[in-house]
Amino acid sequence: MADELTPETPEEEQPKKTHKQRKNGLYPGVSDELAENMRTGWADTELHGLEPVAQAAHTAARRAALSARFPGERLVVPAGRLKTRSNDTEYPFRAATEYAYLTGDQTENGVLVLEPAGESGHTAALYLLPRSDRENGEFWLSGQGELWVGRRHSLAEAEQLLGLPVKDVRTVADELKEATGPVRVVRGHDPVVEAALTDKVTGERDEELRVYLSEARAVKDAFEIGELQKAVDSTVRGFEDVVKVLDKAEATSERYIEGTFFLRARVEGNDVGYGSICAAGAHACTLHWVRNDGAVRSGDLLLLDAGVETHTLYTADVTRTLPINGRYSEIQRKIYDAVYEAQEAGIAAVKPGAKFRDFHDASQHVLAEKLVEWGLLEGPVERVLELGLQRRWTLHGTGHMLGMDVHDCAAARTEAYVDGTLEPGMCLTVEPGLYFQADDLTVPEEYRGIGVRIEDDILVTEDGNRNLSAGLPRQADEVEAWMAALKG
Ligand code: GLY
Ligand code: MN
Ligand code: MN
Repeated sequence: MADELTPETPEEEQPKKTHKQRKNGLYPGVSDELAENMRTGWADTELHGLEPVAQAAHTAARRAALSARFPGERLVVPAGRLKTRSNDTEYPFRAATEYAYLTGDQTENGVLVLEPAGESGHTAALYLLPRSDRENGEFWLSGQGELWVGRRHSLAEAEQLLGLPVKDVRTVADELKEATGPVRVVRGHDPVVEAALTDKVTGERDEELRVYLSEARAVKDAFEIGELQKAVDSTVRGFEDVVKVLDKAEATSERYIEGTFFLRARVEGNDVGYGSICAAGAHACTLHWVRNDGAVRSGDLLLLDAGVETHTLYTADVTRTLPINGRYSEIQRKIYDAVYEAQEAGIAAVKPGAKFRDFHDASQHVLAEKLVEWGLLEGPVERVLELGLQRRWTLHGTGHMLGMDVHDCAAARTEAYVDGTLEPGMCLTVEPGLYFQADDLTVPEEYRGIGVRIEDDILVTEDGNRNLSAGLPRQADEVEAWMAALKG
């Protein structure tokens, strides 16, 4: 749609324009009569008595914990800004995880500020763009006007929904410039906010805030666990969708699989939580295969690694490696069964009190044993593991924290994550794999071009773990039976 009336300056940075100024050329092509006509005749659509969003109680508790960690300091957490794709077209917006975690909001340009109040504690305020002004014409003459982008919540509505005071974002940069006392900001999302704070913050102190917010997300609350289960349940349905259309993918390409899963993600959730890996045949050996433009052939395996992100931004991260024609060949099954056994050992090692590394070690041990048994590596297994020789074919770590980010808690300190201890409420993936590159001359030819990964989303519980993605079969016979039933 042509948008020739859109001014180039973002709305919140524009001075209020009078009708006369517009007439004098700021909005060429708008007559006095049209401007006057567009000012009036609109119903009042303000909403009253809104219920808070489901996560509002949880976001308040998260802000309280953040406040206790940084007493007396102003804390600034931006949502991020739209990123231009070309001209007046933007990439889809996805709010910064830290911002959504603390507010429950996902609006571009939003800013959460925790202002110190007295000796301890903070007053939280959220800064958002108000509804478009009808008087000055911005609602239809600005690119971010509601006529173009859709109705926003008024600030009063946002207060009711999110459960904290909401102010006009057009004042936030000036308020931050004038702020006194120590300040920390979550960097990397909003250059305007960062520019306003440039002489008040340090990289080291801001990093402490980012690390805190990463570590705070390691243990999920009841709301988050529910959302993760929803993400997984939609993902299970997305995998079922894919199995049902494998014949269409064979007639086209891996893109048919990507598009099929994406449809489920967009209809039931917000998006996919990361670029879907739809890797048929030897593409399974390319760990981040997201081009998804290859052929889908009967007799090959399909490694599908995909996850639905919910409307509240929690994502699943699930992989299944499926025989495209419904039956694993002998060599495919041998490799698949080894990965399955490694995953079983890994999942069994997920329990409260275990070290985060334990499930990785358990899976790697099984894979090293298999590689020695198959004659691909010289034993003993302990020597293989000590030298890491199995890694030519296992390639990656066995799992990671999962939550609002697919690789959640990524800024956590080593001692709080990789060298840390599992606790109830943590959610992580267990995803061993074996990958024999098509050009790997060190393995017999029959192995080449086969890649297998099995990935599940595992919640640490009080007495062990729960596999959130148990709705998708993993054992080879069960996978074949499941596929046969779906294909009808
Ligand atoms: N899908 C990315 C991963 O498995 O970590
Ligand atoms: Mn993963
Ligand atoms: Mn994955």
